[in-house]
Amino acid sequence: MCGIIGAVGLNNIQNILLQSLKSMEYRGYDSAGICIQGEQHLHTRKAKGKLINLEHLLEQSPLTGSLGIGHTRWATHGVPEVRNAHPHQTESIAIVHNGIIENHKQLRESLSAAGATFDSDTDSETIPWLWQQEYTKNNNPEIAFHNTLNQLQGAFAIAGIQANEHKLWFARRGSPLLLAKGEAGVFVASDALAVGTVASHVIYLQEGQWGWSDLEHIHIFNEDGSQAAIQWEPMPEMVAATEKGPYAHYMLKEIHEQPRVFLDILNAYAPDKQHIHFPQAAFIENDPLPSRIIMVACGTSYHAALTARYWLERYLKIPVEVDVASEFRYRDPVIGDNTWFITLSQSGETADTLEALRLFKQQTPQNKTLVFCNVASSSMVRESDGVIELYAGPEIGVASTKAYTAQLLALALFSLKLASNANAMPPEETTKHIQYLFDASQGVESLLNNTPIFDKLTPLFSQSHGALFLGRGPCYPLALEGALKLKEISYLHAEGYPAGEMKHGPIALIDENLPVIVLALRQYHLDKVISNLHEVQARGAKVILITDIPEKEYPTNVDTIIHIPEGDFFSAPLLASIPLQYLAYNVARFKGTDVDQPRNLAKSVTVE
Ligand code: M6R
Repeated sequence: MCGIIGAVGLNNIQNILLQSLKSMEYRGYDSAGICIQGEQHLHTRKAKGKLINLEHLLEQSPLTGSLGIGHTRWATHGVPEVRNAHPHQTESIAIVHNGIIENHKQLRESLSAAGATFDSDTDSETIPWLWQQEYTKNNNPEIAFHNTLNQLQGAFAIAGIQANEHKLWFARRGSPLLLAKGEAGVFVASDALAVGTVASHVIYLQEGQWGWSDLEHIHIFNEDGSQAAIQWEPMPEMVAATEKGPYAHYMLKEIHEQPRVFLDILNAYAPDKQHIHFPQAAFIENDPLPSRIIMVACGTSYHAALTARYWLERYLKIPVEVDVASEFRYRDPVIGDNTWFITLSQSGETADTLEALRLFKQQTPQNKTLVFCNVASSSMVRESDGVIELYAGPEIGVASTKAYTAQLLALALFSLKLASNANAMPPEETTKHIQYLFDASQGVESLLNNTPIFDKLTPLFSQSHGALFLGRGPCYPLALEGALKLKEISYLHAEGYPAGEMKHGPIALIDENLPVIVLALRQYHLDKVISNLHEVQARGAKVILITDIPEKEYPTNVDTIIHIPEGDFFSAPLLASIPLQYLAYNVARFKGTDVDQPRNLAKSVTVE
């Protein structure tokens, strides 16, 4: 949700800024811009649309200088137009911003009354004007910047420069920001991916921290103005992980990485195939089971949580509630004691999930919090009592694939662990289930070695006005996920529904042009799902059956069947995810949409 970069370098930093924006384009891609300090003035270039447009503009009129900032935008306030693209500036101050300034209307009014002239419809443009005002009032630049931050309400990560001082300013409150250094200079960025090739060390800024840097000095302050310690960590290796390799799209690459990701997770948490151990969540081992679990997430991560509820409730016999974060945080939730709160997030920065976590901690600090997360340095990881890291590696495609199945797998291990803690599962049964999870890696590999089987699905979508995904039990959330994947990247309307609920309404949608994808797995109410399938067939729908049952065992007369390897209660959804991902990918390619950067979306939703 917007990527920001700032650099103070030894040499010209235009190309570093561009390269960094390229690595963060997944965060937003409706416009982009950079501003570089010249000898006397700030020089800015902005372009609407993808970064390539800015690159072309810079080819025609390049910028030179060693201090600058850049931004790739996902619009919140103001349509995607050049005038709303960042950087925003006065004559002598320029900023890039990720987040939302909630009091921008009041600021705009008071700043306009004092002579500010706004060019954009954005909330962000109030920042340089406010800073300018404070700078005029105060001789001390640190006080001016701190006063500016103190007047901003909402969430922000900001990088800023001034025309007359060779300093890179930065601040973080509510949106992610890190500081990095390498031979080429000092940087601030929304994401380590942005500086992976130029920096060797990193500091993940804490909530409320701000400061400035030039090539010789770095000053970090806490929200109250006190000086913060500077503790560099080595930059994680990530360059190879962010290259597409031989694949046409990141999404395709990430789908194909899943067998490796499965093994990484299993080898991290259950290497001997008998015992499960989460080293960064000691309370799972040491504390008694809670009387209730609440799981909160958004989008695909929410779907993973829904599947886990079936696993946990079956063995633990305690209530497991699952909620979308934006609902949880505003519905005055009743929490109570003895409750574990679990968040799930690929990025660990999703604003609603992060705020739900903070709300929970504020209301019941005595309860434990756990996050399933793919980004070890993220805010959710830092703010939770325990962490189950997903080890999926950077996920660049906006549509989540490997992070989703990584969540499912880690949740399966977590459920097995708690079942064993609760003496609800004998050790030999746990071992059997773990073996099934290891086998799922091979099962997925075999599906991915035979992808032409998925090609026959695409033509069914050439005339369709939408699609319906049906499943029961843990396959119901899988149906939701299949539908989400399809709509995200092919822009086709799709619904996921519990198969048993279909006749209470959605059956009216069915005609000969509606593909209905039925998930029928041996583990989950097979007979009942097959009855639902017949009801759909009888109304002329084009059925696609995804199943682990041989046709001769269960004749269905469906024309389009995708057979997947058979899994057990925990591993079956991992295997069934693959055809759903491939289906969405193939339909999107058929429709010619932008698979990795679908319209209106961004990878990391850091505004509510
Ligand atoms: O980073 P998170 O897992 O917290 O993100 C949550 C959702 O924004 C995300 O899953 C979104 O739905 C994806 N585009 C799904 O493909």
